[in-house]
Amino acid sequence: MTTLTSSSRDQDKVHRVLLGKKQFLVTEDEPLLPQLERAGLHIEYQCREGYCSSCSIRLLWGHVDYPFEPLAWVQSGFLLACCAIVKTDIEIAFFSDDSAE
Ligand code: FES
Repeated sequence: MTTLTSSSRDQDKVHRVLLGKKQFLVTEDEPLLPQLERAGLHIEYQCREGYCSSCSIRLLWGHVDYPFEPLAWVQSGFLLACCAIVKTDIEIAFFSDDSAE
């Protein structure tokens, strides 16, 4: 399933998010979490403001940025979906998909 979640203005930057065999298109207009939710994915969350780390998702490759420094600890190789802005194509995995660690 592919979802474009925002208008395609010239200044919008659109990136691919790979999750297993699925691919989503997201923009830099808002954090990853609401865009994945609109695409039909259920993501664990509590605060949605970078405090709790319950929205932590494995980042297998690619780059995200944060418009503010999250208070929650961001473990290396993970992202906080509620406040991460996707800056390149990325590949993510949920904990249940993670058999490497
Ligand atoms: S939901 Fe709390 S840090 Fe993302």
